[in-house]
Amino acid sequence: MKPLKIVVLNGSPKGDLSVTMQYVEYVKKHAPGHEYESFNVSQLINRVEKDRKYFDSIMESVRRADGVIWAFPLYYMLVPAQYKRFIELVFERGAAKAFAGKYAVSLSTSIHFFDHTAHMYLNGICDDLGMEYAGQYSPYMFDLMKAPERERLMGFARGFFESIAGRRSFPRRTAPLVVNTSAYKPGKLVQQVKAGGRRVLILTDETSASSSLARMTERIKALFGDAAEKFNINDLEMKGACLGCIRCGYDGDCAYAGKDGYIDFFNEKVKGADMLIFCGTIRDRYLSARWKTFIDRSFFNNHQPFLRGKQMGYCVSGPAGQMDYLGEVFEAHAEMMHANLVDVVSDEGADSKALDRILSDFAGRMCAAADAGYVRPRTFLGVGGTKIFRDEIFSHMRFPFRADHEYYKKHGMYDFPQKKFKMRAIGTAMLLLAKVPRIRREIYRKQIKPGMVAPLKAVVAR
Ligand SMILES: Cc1cc2nc3c(=O)[nH]c(=O)nc-3n(C[C@H](O)[C@H](O)[C@H](O)COP(=O)(O)O)c2cc1C
Repeated sequence: MKPLKIVVLNGSPKGDLSVTMQYVEYVKKHAPGHEYESFNVSQLINRVEKDRKYFDSIMESVRRADGVIWAFPLYYMLVPAQYKRFIELVFERGAAKAFAGKYAVSLSTSIHFFDHTAHMYLNGICDDLGMEYAGQYSPYMFDLMKAPERERLMGFARGFFESIAGRRSFPRRTAPLVVNTSAYKPGKLVQQVKAGGRRVLILTDETSASSSLARMTERIKALFGDAAEKFNINDLEMKGACLGCIRCGYDGDCAYAGKDGYIDFFNEKVKGADMLIFCGTIRDRYLSARWKTFIDRSFFNNHQPFLRGKQMGYCVSGPAGQMDYLGEVFEAHAEMMHANLVDVVSDEGADSKALDRILSDFAGRMCAAADAGYVRPRTFLGVGGTKIFRDEIFSHMRFPFRADHEYYKKHGMYDFPQKKFKMRAIGTAMLLLAKVPRIRREIYRKQIKPGMVAPLKAVVAR
């Protein structure tokens, strides 16, 4: 195989001290015939943003490359905010052409908490950039320490290089986004909703008062009247995005503490609200990098459900409904917070009259859910995610996430099935009984169906 030029776009805010980059280094060492060039685009995002020559030099390298490795850590079910900003800059500055026709893979490390949504996002970005997306690789962060996993990694890398050398074709797996929104012009407000003395916080990142988003957020604010406070997160002093330093793991102390306004705002306004409405415009295939910065910075709360019992909603301008993973990310976030996601409303496809009604009912439904203290049961997203967190905080992540460990102990979140002694004893006894062929036939052929509903029937009867 002729030597290939590979550009690595490192998405870790930790730069070279990145776990993910150790996987890249391993590939470099064990597939040495190629030319590799890495850029710490997240760590150096301020330079990427301000120094146009530096940005152009990265684009020039991409232009000359045969393949691009998007290497990144998972941050809140997606890429870190800095990486998101880098991607926005590529589109904003008309640099997408540098990527067109290049082969690409996405490589992340994580604890497998919604790694699939991050890779779906990057798959979509690669498709939008006109790249040949050759697949994803998403190991658990410490997999590199196991020989079979190292072998697997090299299998992936070899496959990538062979794809480039053999000019393989890959299907486009995501449809291009179709912006199907019309400018929202709200009609006369007929009736406000009753928030029942609850505090409503509307967070938005709108940049123009005449945008659809601004009109929607104004409408929502008007619906809630005095109960609502609207705040533009562009006005919040945030010195930077999460650095991934996990200094917060011990007791929530963030590296930015005392340096900007985020932590106080979050503790006071976000935690202090009863209903939260997150409002934003779709930028590429997620909300803006500014929103992602706001979300990532909430990591100082670690893995605790700090929005427990709150009503949440999203109001989005743009093609939100065309990205399934986006709804999954919103839903999972609420479920992990033990909050109730009332809905995600968008200006997609709806005319102004219809949107007036949707927004009124959305606000009304939030109030009704708050009145009833309703939090819908969690789905696979929250149940599965909670088990991953529980197991990680109990074992691998107990150190350095001391604050989480204390919280999980205190709030009964270490609900391991091993502790369900009665169920385990019943299970063992039944398995013993089932060893007898006559009893087994009786149980499996006659008793299982009525047996399963019997305890539920008893509840219904009561
Ligand atoms: C702010 C923040 C958010 C994170 N979010 C996720 C997540 O959503 N899913 C996940 O599996 N891991 C998550 N992690 C864990 C990192 O993805 C993981 O530790 C990764 O290996 C770090 O890679 P790096 O050293 O290359 O930055 C998060 C870590 C931080 C600091």
